[in-house]
Amino acid sequence: MNKLRFAIIGCGDIAGQEAEGITKSKSGELKLVMDVNKENAEKLATKYKVPFVTSTAEVLSRQDIDAVIICVPHFLHKQITLDAAKAGKHIIIEKPIATNTQDALEMIAACKKANVKLSVAYILRYQPMVAKARELLKKGAIGKVINITIQQVGYKPESYWTQGWTKAVTTDWRTSKAKSGGGILIMNVSHFIDMMYAITDMEPERVYSEYDTFATKVEVEDMLVATLRYKNGAVGLMQTSSTAFGGGDNLNRIYGSEGQIIMGDPLKIYVSKPFEGLEVNKWNDIPLEQMENVWITPRVNYVEAFADAVLNNKPVPIPGEEGIKAMLVCNATYESGLKHSPVNIKF
Ligand SMILES: NC(=O)c1ccc[n+]([C@@H]2O[C@H](COP(=O)([O-])OP(=O)(O)OC[C@H]3O[C@@H](n4cnc5c(N)ncnc54)[C@H](O)[C@@H]3O)[C@@H](O)[C@H]2O)c1
Repeated sequence: MNKLRFAIIGCGDIAGQEAEGITKSKSGELKLVMDVNKENAEKLATKYKVPFVTSTAEVLSRQDIDAVIICVPHFLHKQITLDAAKAGKHIIIEKPIATNTQDALEMIAACKKANVKLSVAYILRYQPMVAKARELLKKGAIGKVINITIQQVGYKPESYWTQGWTKAVTTDWRTSKAKSGGGILIMNVSHFIDMMYAITDMEPERVYSEYDTFATKVEVEDMLVATLRYKNGAVGLMQTSSTAFGGGDNLNRIYGSEGQIIMGDPLKIYVSKPFEGLEVNKWNDIPLEQMENVWITPRVNYVEAFADAVLNNKPVPIPGEEGIKAMLVCNATYESGLKHSPVNIKF
């Protein structure tokens, strides 16, 4: 077997990017797509010239499928993962891993028991800025990390809640707390929580948050602020909204004891001590490797890494044990806002 044969389960908003990632990769092959909604499945199947089915059982019984990419609403992640593991399929699960810790732990255990690989598609890790920021940090460019600040403040149009960004399909789960697990935090900011973990290896131990649903007709939060304390003593801030008229800052910063990094392209770094020829006490731009397509190239690279791990029996990128971390932070943040008091995060 020199290519990993994939099926996509769930043919909605993100499935198109997954299909691009597989078909443009050298080591992945898209064999089949599946959706309980025939029209959604047929549309994706036609575009990528592959067959489609409308039952998970049919996907999982096929001998010519090695791995599945699960792109369904969050509350369905668990059951489909358990079924896929039982059928011996390797699994990429779209983020977040689940809606709650217990489900995520069961998913990780089931994959381990079935000896299949499980990876959570925190695709931001495949942006070149992540590896570069990590390298600079590990070399000590900004000293010790003292503050991680995640700001993702924007406005989601009404159509987003039922049609996502691409309007590929119409669904209702994003508005429901039970089905989604939450709003902008678990849906989007969890990417940045994972990204900061991938850069710094730092785990927060406590969070205090306040949030509410202010100006959107949904059950989930549309405005949230949270402060964090990390195990190494650093502090952190998350500020996010999906209902900021006029927009706000999408700015992620790592403050160090000797400098600062602002995530982006180019990566920005301020150093207070000489470091590899950078200008001291000034902002420096660090040019990054340019990707052919900022959305698709990371997916292709992720599929290559996952396929390599399965085909050559290596550890997968972003295994369940790592993918659960962002969810633990999100869950504790939600709990804190409900209790109006700080909550400890148990990793
Ligand atoms: N990584 C990213 O940037 C990104 C972006 C968007 C969504 N996502 C994630 O992808 C996942 C799917 O989100 P989406 O935005 O594509 O949702 P969506 O609502 O656009 O599509 C979900 C699809 O799943 C189908 N479906 C529902 N129940 C099913 C079942 N039991 N079996 C098979 N198919 C079923 C629906 O018919 C629909 O076509 C979520 O986990 C979401 O957070 C990730």
